[in-house]
Amino acid sequence: MSEFAKLWAEIAPIGRAGSGGYLRYALTTPELTLRDWFRAQAARRDMTVTEDGNGNLFAWRGEPWAPGTVLTGSHFDSVPHGGGYDGPLGIVSAFLAVDKIDKDRKVGIAAFVEEEGGRFGVPCLGSRLFTGVIDPERAAALTDRDGVTFGEALGRRPAGALPEIGQLAAVIELHIEQGRALEVPVGVASAIWPHGRWRMDFAGVGDHAGTTRMTDRRDPMLTFAFAVLAANKEARLAGAHATVGRVQAEPNATNAIPSLVRGWLDARAADTATLDRLVDAVVKKATERAGRDGTELTVTAESVTGEVTFDNELAERIAARLKAPILPTGAGHDAGVLSGHVPTAMLFVRNPTGVSHSPAEHASDADCEAGIEALATVLDDLT
Ligand code: GLV
Ligand code: MN
Ligand code: MN
Ligand code: MN
Repeated sequence: MSEFAKLWAEIAPIGRAGSGGYLRYALTTPELTLRDWFRAQAARRDMTVTEDGNGNLFAWRGEPWAPGTVLTGSHFDSVPHGGGYDGPLGIVSAFLAVDKIDKDRKVGIAAFVEEEGGRFGVPCLGSRLFTGVIDPERAAALTDRDGVTFGEALGRRPAGALPEIGQLAAVIELHIEQGRALEVPVGVASAIWPHGRWRMDFAGVGDHAGTTRMTDRRDPMLTFAFAVLAANKEARLAGAHATVGRVQAEPNATNAIPSLVRGWLDARAADTATLDRLVDAVVKKATERAGRDGTELTVTAESVTGEVTFDNELAERIAARLKAPILPTGAGHDAGVLSGHVPTAMLFVRNPTGVSHSPAEHASDADCEAGIEALATVLDDLT
């Protein structure tokens, strides 16, 4: 069994659901178990572990935050029934890459909290806090589906921006590729599409399904359904991506017209102008439709991430060194947030299924091992 296969087998059962996917929400038992595993891996390597008061965990070879340190790593948390590679591959690879380079190199490994926004709604919450791009008060008040706030789950008010980030020489996140764009084992990221999440509240009038005449209804489910179709159509027209993957209805009864339908729009495009136009068009069409349905639409932007262009010179240098292709992605990453503050690059590992945020996500051991080798080369070059 390879070193990778051994470490992978240690974490594979943690948080695995009957679907074959993972339920590893931030600061819940499976993710906390993975954090304990992280501490044990660090101890095995005589690395010092620190936390930043935001829920992010670090292991250091050398002094924590020593000037010139290169930070690598990723996240443990998953989307509901997500794949096992999205996030953890970057952390497991980091430990194995550190094993391959000289012990005097200044390297840190990060496990960022709540990258997916699967529990508290805002993706990359840990890296946003750490870089100071989200207000700690706002972060503390974010609630999960049971009404628990992020501050409560963390056990404190998040610390917010860490000035030490300025000491880092570079950040390198290794991640499984999440689409069908990478045809060789390892690639280098060029950019992340601008993207965001908009909560759409469709309010109507709850009533009896059997007695309310069809002409008397003010049914928000109709407006919601129209908005979903409009989002799909507008995204196709714009060459962009729009998804409504999460929905709640109240009172959520088969025999009641809903009083409220809440759906979350995830929209992404190659540039900000296209993204803005797409979201505006969906909101305009759905609002017009609400007028006809006798319902009301309220839209709240929950998180918006602008276009990320990774450090060009760094990406090209790494790509030339690894003889690897450079490609953009529509998936968000902590590295995207960090790239606004530190020279940052990403390595992608091939995903032969082309599927992610699903149990079908996969990478071969051989490709993961190529990724570890590539990460070790990059860390060796940069430290
Ligand atoms: C996170 O993986 C995202 O891109 O939504
Ligand atoms: Mn993800
Ligand atoms: Mn990820
Ligand atoms: Mn992501």
